[in-house]
Amino acid sequence: MFADTASVSRRSHLTGTRSPDLVGVTVVVDEMTISVFSGGQSAARTCWAGTVVPSLQVLLGESTLAPHDPSQDLGMASFSRSCRIHSGAQILRGLAPVALTALLFLGVASTAGAQQYPNTTFNYTTEMNEAVTHLWDQLLFWATLVFVIVEVGILYIIFKFKARPDSPDPKQVHGNTALEIAWTAIPAVILAFITVPTVKTIFMTQAKAPADALQVEVIGHQWWWEFRYPQYGITTANELYLPVGRTVNFKLNTSDVLHSFWIPRLGGKRDLISNRTNYLWMTPRDSMALKALNGSCTEYCGESHANMKFRTFTVTKEQFASWAAHQKGPAVYGAVTPPAVGVTPAVAGAAATTKSGQVGTELADAPTPAPVGFVFPREKLDASTMPTATPPSSIAFTAGLTGDVERGRQVYSRSSCIGCHKISGNPMSAGVLGPNLTHFGSRYTFGSAVYENTTENLVRWIKNAPAMKPGSLMPAIGNGEYNPAIKAKVTMGGLSDQQIADVAAYLLALK
Ligand code: CUA
Repeated sequence: MFADTASVSRRSHLTGTRSPDLVGVTVVVDEMTISVFSGGQSAARTCWAGTVVPSLQVLLGESTLAPHDPSQDLGMASFSRSCRIHSGAQILRGLAPVALTALLFLGVASTAGAQQYPNTTFNYTTEMNEAVTHLWDQLLFWATLVFVIVEVGILYIIFKFKARPDSPDPKQVHGNTALEIAWTAIPAVILAFITVPTVKTIFMTQAKAPADALQVEVIGHQWWWEFRYPQYGITTANELYLPVGRTVNFKLNTSDVLHSFWIPRLGGKRDLISNRTNYLWMTPRDSMALKALNGSCTEYCGESHANMKFRTFTVTKEQFASWAAHQKGPAVYGAVTPPAVGVTPAVAGAAATTKSGQVGTELADAPTPAPVGFVFPREKLDASTMPTATPPSSIAFTAGLTGDVERGRQVYSRSSCIGCHKISGNPMSAGVLGPNLTHFGSRYTFGSAVYENTTENLVRWIKNAPAMKPGSLMPAIGNGEYNPAIKAKVTMGGLSDQQIADVAAYLLALK
């Protein structure tokens, strides 16, 4: 197109001698100068170069419709070529963000991103997510193919049929049967390519799990996860052990509101609904042995929905058998008592251990740890699977207190703790409302995997759990702490910091 500053006669002349290949070039003429640019000011200088300018000046110096001059054509031809090259570069620059986005997208989508993106869903780690990821790949392929064909067609039509000065009206058409059949049939074929594998995947993932599958009952609570292994008589919370190479069949229920169970790296997700049982099954590949994976609730379920997480540890069958054999039994005390609060962790002493859950008095001569079965190795936990949350500074705790396991057991056994929590081996502790704490000391996290299981975090949690997790049904227990459940400070029955340190020592010793 040509700018209005050129006179009609000059513009006509320019139109007549312009190379037909020239795309998107604007010529601006004023009294003193001639500027040529295509698509932007930055291009102007390039287009001035070479033989263009003299040719144009000669051309525009003539005041009226000049007769066609071959030498001017020559100038215009080289001018158009130089501008076309420049236009190509500009198009590439314009496409750069699109290409970068596409590259980023492909990077995220690739399975190689599992290390960099610990919660990626593009995995081939179970037959379940292999089927789903494969389906996704197919959809992406067809969608990309359609996108490229349509975009190329649009660009072609834009440039090929764009209005040019003096071009006649386009030919008017009223329907094209062949075209209409084509644009109905082609999407139908594409949809068939998508439908068949989609329906196949739906049937595959909704089928019943094999009869010999590991059964795990998942019960959602506001806001934590209960895991039961009925074949092994195990009840645990927030940390899920799964053997590789064996299908696990999750039976999903909720004790209160809707939740949704999701382990991104293994596949899923599926809702926990109050009046029906949902199932979800998958078989972690052997290559997934000794992996720590994140899990979370993905259905809004109240104020601590975002704090409803869990950990999954995929282990070998032998490791699972060892873990399960120990978990089935009552708690045993670990060999190492927890460090004092506010003191650098160190081995503070050794407690004798007995299977009966009684701490022996012969502290001096019993450094041998009790056999506690397999526990997922700490060094295999990476930054993405260890919680980093810290208790709010509003929960003050006396520094330097050392918890005593036996005192802690006594305090715990006559406190309100036993109304909600169960500890096998402690007959006083038989509650079922809260997480089962039988092997609490062998867990890496607590509070639904929101806090690392350390003395520092645990004492504050016992003192004032609602301050560490909004809406927590576990009440504040520390003396003088505000308990939102009764809208008052804890006075009667509250625990002192020393008592809390003792209870924490007891819980952390439960291996
Ligand atoms: Cu449970 Cu969100």
